[in-house]
Amino acid sequence: MRMVDVIAKKRDGEELSEEEIQFFISGLTSGDIPDYQAAALLMAVYIQGMNEQETIALTKAMLYSGDTVDLSAIAGIKVDKHSTGGVGDKTTIVLAPLVAAAGAPVAKMTGSGLGHTGGTMDKLRSFANINMELSREEFINNVQRIGIAVSGQSAKLVPADKKLYALRDVTSTIGNIPLIAASIMSKKLASGSDAIVLDVKTGSGAFMESEEGAFQLAKEMVKIGEGMKRQTVAVISQMAQPLGRAVGNTLEVKEALETLNGRGPADLLELCLELGSHMLVLSNIVPDAASARTLLKQKIQSGEALAKLKEMIKYQGGNPDQVDDISSLPHTSNSRNLVSSSDGYVSQLDARTVGIASMLLGAGRKTKEDKIDLAAGIYLHKKIGEAIQEGEVLATLYATDTSKFDEAIATLQTAYRISSDPVTGQQLILGAVRK
Ligand code: URA
Repeated sequence: MRMVDVIAKKRDGEELSEEEIQFFISGLTSGDIPDYQAAALLMAVYIQGMNEQETIALTKAMLYSGDTVDLSAIAGIKVDKHSTGGVGDKTTIVLAPLVAAAGAPVAKMTGSGLGHTGGTMDKLRSFANINMELSREEFINNVQRIGIAVSGQSAKLVPADKKLYALRDVTSTIGNIPLIAASIMSKKLASGSDAIVLDVKTGSGAFMESEEGAFQLAKEMVKIGEGMKRQTVAVISQMAQPLGRAVGNTLEVKEALETLNGRGPADLLELCLELGSHMLVLSNIVPDAASARTLLKQKIQSGEALAKLKEMIKYQGGNPDQVDDISSLPHTSNSRNLVSSSDGYVSQLDARTVGIASMLLGAGRKTKEDKIDLAAGIYLHKKIGEAIQEGEVLATLYATDTSKFDEAIATLQTAYRISSDPVTGQQLILGAVRK
């Protein structure tokens, strides 16, 4: 088989066989297929698309391109949750201990942020000395002992995705349904959970911006998961504006702690209850979503969810006392305010632009090698639908390096639009897709 023929076939809009897809993925992983040919095929797929069979074949080939995790030593139904990526999305930090406190085993592999989106790995590193690179043994032991572990994904898991994702990032081929679906589902299937809850974001801060595209992506991923015998549910949620009010690593951790203390923003809590109830139903802890919600709320009120997070931090080498003493978390006294120049109502708060402004402050990476400033980020005092007066603060920006403020403020300013007429708030949960 020759790669040039595989590229030509897809370029001409034909269906690739399972063997051709397997040939591509194994050649890419071994290094036999050069980046320029892989990039050409990616662009052909981006333009011509892939049908369901091809997408499933791509997912399977990627899934078996490296190691897979066996979680069978852990009792119970292991349910994983995955977000397609957004701005201010600190859901995992709330949801993982919350669901674990409700009795479902949480064995969660997570990633770092890139571009305008954040990553749970970076956020949790706000806790000094926390080990986010647990060995396979430590990971499984912790879930067996305390019901929860959240750790970075081993480099050996789905190596094909690492190469493909890096190429897609620089060839403008990220926003394609079969490619996103295969990328996410190969990693979820390789990490060994029995069931999967997907949080598919739509809006400017999401990879799949249109609502129609997000529903299509959700359907595709549910089909792949169910086809691989994993119960899969996808929730479609709004990412036109950031989730919650905090954007940036430690700021987001603090907001997650507030939420676990019962004082978090309504949208973040709602998303956690929605995703958490699907997780509890899939893991057979409760019979239906209504009882799941009641149980989850109880676990927040009783303090058990927060206690579970502390236990997790302790078992991963961090200091759980930092949860009660947030002044010990990374912080900076360098801040600037973005002030409104008119009276009115916030009609737009573009998530992607907020993410970029936060990255410019040092909270995110432009390239994988960039070091991040955990204390940097943005606190959004005003979100869509809220009233504002001239001279009032819309947002506060934080950065250790003060030279970063000017560009970040200028960028953040373009994220906001103020209307003189009242604006209704946005619907957060747009629907769910299941088999
Ligand atoms: N997240 C992933 O893991 N892969 C994609 O392609 C997009 C979002």
